[in-house]
Amino acid sequence: MRNILVVDDDADLRMTVTSALAEGQYQVDQAQDGEEAVNRVKAGQYDLVLMDVNMPKMSGIDALKEIKEHDPSIMVIILTAFSNIRDAIESTRLGAFNYLEKPVRSDNLVYMIDQAFRSQNMVKTLSYSAPVFNLPSGNEFVGESNEMKKIFSVIDRLARVDTAVLIRGESGTGKELVAQSLHYNGPRKENRFVAVNCSAIPETLMESEFFGHEKGAFTGADSRKIGKFQYAEGGTLFLDEIGEIPPSMQVKLLRVLQEKKFTPVGSNREIEMNVRIVAATNRDLESMVKEGAFREDLFYRLNVLPIKLPPLRDRKNDIESLARYFIDKFNLRYKKQIKGLNEDTLTALKAHRWPGNIRELENVLEHAFVLESGSMISLESLPERIKGIPSPLPVSGEGAAAEVMLEEGSVPMEGEAMSFRMSIQKFDFQASKEEFEKQFLINALKAFRGKINQTALHANIPKKTLLRKLEKYGISARDYT
Ligand SMILES: Nc1ncnc2c1ncn2[C@@H]1O[C@H](COP(=O)(O)OP(=O)(O)OP(=O)(O)O)[C@@H](O)[C@H]1O
Ligand SMILES: [Mg+2]
Repeated sequence: MRNILVVDDDADLRMTVTSALAEGQYQVDQAQDGEEAVNRVKAGQYDLVLMDVNMPKMSGIDALKEIKEHDPSIMVIILTAFSNIRDAIESTRLGAFNYLEKPVRSDNLVYMIDQAFRSQNMVKTLSYSAPVFNLPSGNEFVGESNEMKKIFSVIDRLARVDTAVLIRGESGTGKELVAQSLHYNGPRKENRFVAVNCSAIPETLMESEFFGHEKGAFTGADSRKIGKFQYAEGGTLFLDEIGEIPPSMQVKLLRVLQEKKFTPVGSNREIEMNVRIVAATNRDLESMVKEGAFREDLFYRLNVLPIKLPPLRDRKNDIESLARYFIDKFNLRYKKQIKGLNEDTLTALKAHRWPGNIRELENVLEHAFVLESGSMISLESLPERIKGIPSPLPVSGEGAAAEVMLEEGSVPMEGEAMSFRMSIQKFDFQASKEEFEKQFLINALKAFRGKINQTALHANIPKKTLLRKLEKYGISARDYT
C-alpha cells in the first residue's frame, strides 16, 4: 500500500481528490497548508504528495523544497490553477515530478500518480545520461552545440508535462522534430501524434477540420466527420504554422485550451478532450499581437512554455554531425557507401548562411550525394551557390559586382553573391541587377519550398514586391514546392 498526502487549503478539493483516489491501493491523508504538509512528511512515511501552490502559512513551492530536502525520493505533483502555471513550471525545476492544472480530472490524476510511482522505481536504479529521444523510425535529433544541448534538456523536461508548448524558429530549423520528441518521449506516446498545417486549411473548412461536423451541418457535409482534436484524443495535436489561423478560429481555439471541451459543427453536444497542444510558427507573433492580427490571450496561453530553435548559422558546430547523420541516412536510401566530407566541403558548408536551415542542408547534401562518384563528398558536387568560390574577375569588374550586391539594401546570401560574381560577364548594370534578382529569388524559393510568405519574410522583401518580381521574371513559385 502506497501512502499519499493531499495538501490544499480548500477542504472541498481535498475531499474530491481523496475520493478520486478511493479505488486505488492507496492510503490517503490530508493536510491544509504547506507547514502541516512538511511536518507530516517528516513524521510519517509518504511516497507521494499532491500539493496546491497558494496556501496560508507556507506555499506549496516552499513546502516542495523542504520535502525534497528531507527525502528526494518522495514524488510531488503540484495541483495548480492556470494563473499560477509559471510557479508550477518552476516547481519541476525544484524537483516536482509534474503538475496538473485545476480543475483536476480524476482519470488524469490517477494516470499521473501511476506514472510517478513507476518513475520512482526507476529513479532508484537509473543514473542520468544525456537524453536520446525516441522518434518515429528513421529520424534522429542531432546536435552537439551548446545551444542544442540546452534545447534537448528543455525537451526532456517538457515531454513529461501536459501544458501547451509553442515552438519558434525559422523555416527548416526542426520545429516538427521538437514536437515529435515531446510526444514520443512523454506519457502520451502510445496514442496518436496528429500534425495539422494551419496554413493549408481554407478558413471556411477550418472549424470542421479541427472539431469535426455532424451530417448535414453545412452544404457538402454528407456524412459525420471526426475532427483532428478528437482524432488526437489521448495524444498530441501539433498545430503547425499557428500564426496563420484566422481571428474567428483563434477565439475558438482559446476556448478549447481553457475549457478542454469543444463542439463539432452542427452539433449541440460538447465533447471533452484530453489532448496536448503543441504549436509552432516562424512568424513574429509578438508583432502580430501588436498589430491585432493575433489574439493576445491566445498568445499567452500558448507561450507558457516557449522553445526557440536557433538558426543553423548560429550553431555551425552542428554542421559536421548533421552532415554525418544525413550521409548515413542517404547511404541507406541510395545504397551507396560514402564515408564523409572532404575538408574543403566542410569549410564551404560552414561558410554558407543557410537561410533554409537544416532542411536546406539536407537537400544540399542529397544533391551532392547523388552526383558524387567518389567515396567522400567533394566540393565539386555541391551546388554552385554553396561552393562560393570567387572566380578571378577582371579588375574593373569588381566594382560593378559590389555595386549590384549592395543595391536596395538587399542582403544576398554568401554563396549566391559569389556565384553571381562569377556570372557577370557583361557590365551592363541593369541587366546584371536583374540577373542577380532573378537568381536570388529562385534560390530563396528553393530554400523555402516555394512558400511565398516564408520567402518574403526571410528574404526581407514585402510580399507584394516579391509577387510583382516573380511575375516580371516569369518565375512560378509552384515549380519549387
Ligand atoms: N537537429 C536535427 N537533427 C536531425 N535532423 C533534423 C534536425 N533538425 C531538423 N532536421 C530535419 O530537417 C528537416 C526540417 O525539419 P522540420 O520539418 O522539423 O523543420 P521545421 O522547423 O518544422 O520547418 P518549417 O518551418 O519549414 O515547417 C526534417 O527532415 C528534419 O528531420
Ligand atoms: Mg514544419
